[in-house]
Amino acid sequence: MNKNEAKKEIKRLREEINFHNHNYYVKNNPIISDFKFDQLLKKLEKLETLYPDLITSDSPTQRVGGEPLDSFSTVEHKVAMLSLDNTYNYEELHEFDDRTKKNVGEVEYVVEPKIDGVGVALLYENSVLVRGATRGDGIKGDDVTSNLKTIRTIPLRLMGNTLKNVEIRGEVYMPLTGFKKYNKEQEKKGEPVFANPRNAAAGSIRQLDPRIVELRPLDIFVYFISFTDKKFSSHYKALEELKKAGFRVNPLVKKVDNIEDVIKYCNKLEKKRESLDYDIDGAVIKVDSISKQKELGETSKNPRWAISYKFAAKQATTRLEDITIQVGRTGTLTPVAVLKPVKVGGVTVSRATLHNFDELKRKDIRIGDWVLVERSGDVIPQVVKSIKEKRSGGEKRKTTPKKCPICRSSVLRIEDEVAVRCVNHLCPARLKWRVRYFASRDAMDIDHLGESTIDKLIEEGLIDNIADLYHLKKEDILKLEGFKDKSAQNLLDSLENSKKQDISRLIYGLGIRHVGKYAAQILASKYQSIDELAEASTEELKEIDGLGDKTAEAIGSFFATTENIRLIEQLKTIGVKTKEIKKEGLPLKGNKFVFTGGLSNLSRPEASDLIKQQGGIVVSSVNKDIDYVVVGDNPGSKYEKAKKLGLNIINEDKFIKLIHKK
Ligand code: IVH
Repeated sequence: MNKNEAKKEIKRLREEINFHNHNYYVKNNPIISDFKFDQLLKKLEKLETLYPDLITSDSPTQRVGGEPLDSFSTVEHKVAMLSLDNTYNYEELHEFDDRTKKNVGEVEYVVEPKIDGVGVALLYENSVLVRGATRGDGIKGDDVTSNLKTIRTIPLRLMGNTLKNVEIRGEVYMPLTGFKKYNKEQEKKGEPVFANPRNAAAGSIRQLDPRIVELRPLDIFVYFISFTDKKFSSHYKALEELKKAGFRVNPLVKKVDNIEDVIKYCNKLEKKRESLDYDIDGAVIKVDSISKQKELGETSKNPRWAISYKFAAKQATTRLEDITIQVGRTGTLTPVAVLKPVKVGGVTVSRATLHNFDELKRKDIRIGDWVLVERSGDVIPQVVKSIKEKRSGGEKRKTTPKKCPICRSSVLRIEDEVAVRCVNHLCPARLKWRVRYFASRDAMDIDHLGESTIDKLIEEGLIDNIADLYHLKKEDILKLEGFKDKSAQNLLDSLENSKKQDISRLIYGLGIRHVGKYAAQILASKYQSIDELAEASTEELKEIDGLGDKTAEAIGSFFATTENIRLIEQLKTIGVKTKEIKKEGLPLKGNKFVFTGGLSNLSRPEASDLIKQQGGIVVSSVNKDIDYVVVGDNPGSKYEKAKKLGLNIINEDKFIKLIHKK
């Protein structure tokens, strides 16, 4: 290929990659497999290596790159980044509406969620992203272009031909799922956690090494064109244009006719707040007509054509009355703050996590302190910091415990891990979690054995381990408060039935660290009995596709523990199924299934069990490795994705035939 041909091919590849990037990240609707996408990118990389002078800053290969910076350079914004005036009640919104109407007559409004992240300005010249900056003091900000380029939903080149020379404003944020995952990993490593998704986004954008930013799950919603050589009559239409140019505009943006509808919609957004995967701290109300926006103008700080309506704060201060210690299923000791009950974002909070003892020390949080508590989405409330100025001197530190608060046995801190653990397998606190886990729906699915019953059985000394469940007699159960003859019999029947459960459920129910539902199914499809699994070497386990090294090691150490082996032996003696009854091999061995939509003849758990009994694996999300997608009534987005990926899609009839034929 000569240079001219390479140039054409490079252009074509970039367009194709940008198109698929947009489908994947912005529309959430990929139409090619990840593998094919990577191939396109590799092809482009190869050509660019051959002709390095053809590399341009907007090439999809240039998303992550560059060396860490020593500091950010300061840049002046094309248009000052104003902030918004705030309102806190509907009366103030009416006042805003009165002021607006007095100046420019009747108006229509656009109501948008106010994303709680970091405001940025993106400058495009000739459709190419040339600069991205933080707000700074509103006049000058930091040039964070290389960091912003790592966010796949920011187009490096604008799509279409309408917008070419523009400055766009948007909010970079960290989705709550990404935030939880990030903090969990940090906790495991003993590294500091972010107090909230907003800090996580702000901290990430201010990272000097773009390669670190690349690993942070950041995203963006854009909401304003601050400069353009194209004229728009309406803000709403400008947002439509931003979508066409390849940006993510928040799907909850709504155009309304009057202030009453603004208020109704603000109310609706506030209700929706808890169910979103990102934090919003209010609504932004904007006059839709751009000419009226111009007429209204701005003060030195805020535009007069927009205002924010703030929701109830998600932070509050209260007194930390005590720090208790929770012992988890794996023995991890977690400090938990007992708080003087306080309303945070409309919900009363009386407990909050303190993550771990290192974090407690780092933040110097003491019993008796006034603390700042925060909730974000459905994340467990947490103590952000203590308010040192309010200390009276009587506050007490809580030291890292040396003994388990429940069973008094010594605790252990595993090297490289921040967690402090109770290693006593018989610790009642751990037993409670283990039994709950064993009996849970995804594990042995034991009906009538709820949390409170389990707690009572342990308190009454009726069970010391999982196997004891199966030795319970009716008279034992009748000793528990609330049980009558019928309910006691129901529990006994459920226990009896659970003995026949599929071995993947038993493997999951044993509560081996890192072994979730999926790993348990993989193991059950590979090994026909718990004994075979127990005998597998860690090396052998590491070789299994889909299992990580950590999981393999955890399985190894589980079966190296005498109490666990004893438990398996007891379960076997009792008659719990620990071995798959061999039907001429396992016909669906290793085949991966996904369900979408409702089935008419079987329940999902029944269908899943049938698959598992034949060595198949049930997976919850669609990817290119799935062997069968079983589609029932009203299938969801998984169906669309499966079609796009060209997977093998079967209906319920075909599924039943497949199961019976095999
Ligand atoms: S419009 C001139 N719309 O809130 C208009 N801002 O307190 C500029 N924000 O600095 C802002 N979501 O960082 C606008 N839908 C939205 C927003 C939004 C979040 C942030 C933005 C701004 C701050 C104002």
